[in-house]
Amino acid sequence: MAKPSTVFVCTSCGSQTRQFFGRCSGCGSWNTLVEQKAAPAADNRRRRPVVEPVEGAGSGQPRRSEPIQAVGERPLQRLSSGYGELDRVLGGGLVPGSLVLVGGDPGIGKSTLLLQSACSMAGRASVLYVSAEESAQQVKLRWRRLAQSGLGDPAGDPEVGADFQLLAETDLELVLQELEALRPAVAIIDSIQALHDAELGSAPGSVAQVRDCAAALARIAKRQDTALLLVGHVTKEGALAGPKVLEHLVDAVLTFEGDRFASHRLLRAVKNRFGATHELGVFEMRDRGLAEVTNPSELFLGGDEPSAGTATIVACEGTRPLVVELQALVSTTSYASPRRSATGIAANRLHQILAVLEKHLGLPLSRFDCYLAVAGGLEVEEPAADLGVAAAVVASYRDLTLPPGTVLVGELGLGGQLRPVGQLELRLQEAARLGFTRAVVPKGSGLAKAAAGLGLQLLEAGGVAEALVAALGVNPADDRA
Ligand SMILES: Nc1ncnc2c1ncn2[C@@H]1O[C@H](COP(=O)(O)OP(=O)(O)OP(=O)(O)O)[C@@H](O)[C@H]1O
Ligand SMILES: [Mg+2]
Repeated sequence: MAKPSTVFVCTSCGSQTRQFFGRCSGCGSWNTLVEQKAAPAADNRRRRPVVEPVEGAGSGQPRRSEPIQAVGERPLQRLSSGYGELDRVLGGGLVPGSLVLVGGDPGIGKSTLLLQSACSMAGRASVLYVSAEESAQQVKLRWRRLAQSGLGDPAGDPEVGADFQLLAETDLELVLQELEALRPAVAIIDSIQALHDAELGSAPGSVAQVRDCAAALARIAKRQDTALLLVGHVTKEGALAGPKVLEHLVDAVLTFEGDRFASHRLLRAVKNRFGATHELGVFEMRDRGLAEVTNPSELFLGGDEPSAGTATIVACEGTRPLVVELQALVSTTSYASPRRSATGIAANRLHQILAVLEKHLGLPLSRFDCYLAVAGGLEVEEPAADLGVAAAVVASYRDLTLPPGTVLVGELGLGGQLRPVGQLELRLQEAARLGFTRAVVPKGSGLAKAAAGLGLQLLEAGGVAEALVAALGVNPADDRA
């Protein structure tokens, strides 16, 4: 009997070999090759010439190039998902014919988010919800739960609202048939890993399956102008599961994240061909579904009473300013090397700021343990948080409380200088809106007038020492402080 032909596919990059290697020759990853049945149909397809007649082009002739000025324009008509927070991350709404991949940890609320959007869009567009993971009964139960809470449709009651089509199916062929028959404006596939192309021998969720199913769905979506929302799973390492090629294939990649211990969920655009990336949408997981958080700064602010070792910064996620509280705890170490721990901020960044404070303010921080946390479990990546971190650390070290109503924004250079940050005016507006009255910012912002108009006292500083004196009202380098 002939041995079945198999190939080894890298789960990391998707490259194929006939022989097993411990290390992928394509991307260099170790132990990522998995055996799969060779798929002759797929192989033959791949060997076809790159230039193919484009379906729907009309003539059936291969498409030719044309001058850019002669290319016909169609106004981009975005469809609102019914949720301002989701629309913001999409760049203003769903674009017809686009593919959006929504990834996230298990149980974070991907199905809930998309089912709620389906309910909300149903009144305005035809929607097909393909549930490949859950039975129709399970989806119905969730729909009922959302309908009862009124969260399923922010504009009204979904039970009396429009209907959408539900298909509980894992076979790709049947899903494609339904898409062709219904030609919906929006189709939701939950999830791409659970779909199965019977032509391929491999199991659902394998590299070949995910790549093939997504490509087949993409072809039909582009042809029919259907906006496709694909749910994708996240691997143990935190990357979107399936080959990297999936991220290249789609127009937008959104990640839905959240702290297991907190109820808020953050939706971010990692890639977007129709809008800005790093936009942030904030939701709150309630017992009956996801609710939008239109004023997220309040989530990331601590209590009303300022305490020693806290500082408030204005971080910017995309075009969205967020007022966030930082807390530091500095205490004498009882170890040979002091402990440093940072939650929500890169540990390297904290080490760098501590070194700058030690060098330029003469504070002996290397003899102290230092813990830093961002309130509300937010991850702050941008360097504009540096000055806030420095202020929180110094305030804890000196047991000082920053005057209430103070925000700090600025990047620290290794020489102790304060570097300008982007979107400062937007940040000041958000701080003023939340009732802050003083802002410590890098020198040369040119925003004194604008800040005065907002009712903010603007304190500009060229270096970290100057900024901390302005913020704290005392010189932290002075031992009598
Ligand atoms: N019956 C219920 N009552 C209250 N909350 C529920 C109920 N069912 C689900 N939830 C909430 O919704 C969350 C799961 O949401 P959802 O199923 O949308 O997640 P998911 O990201 O699609 O998960 P998966 O990756 O497993 O598909 C749960 O973590 C829970 O907080
Ligand atoms: Mg789900």
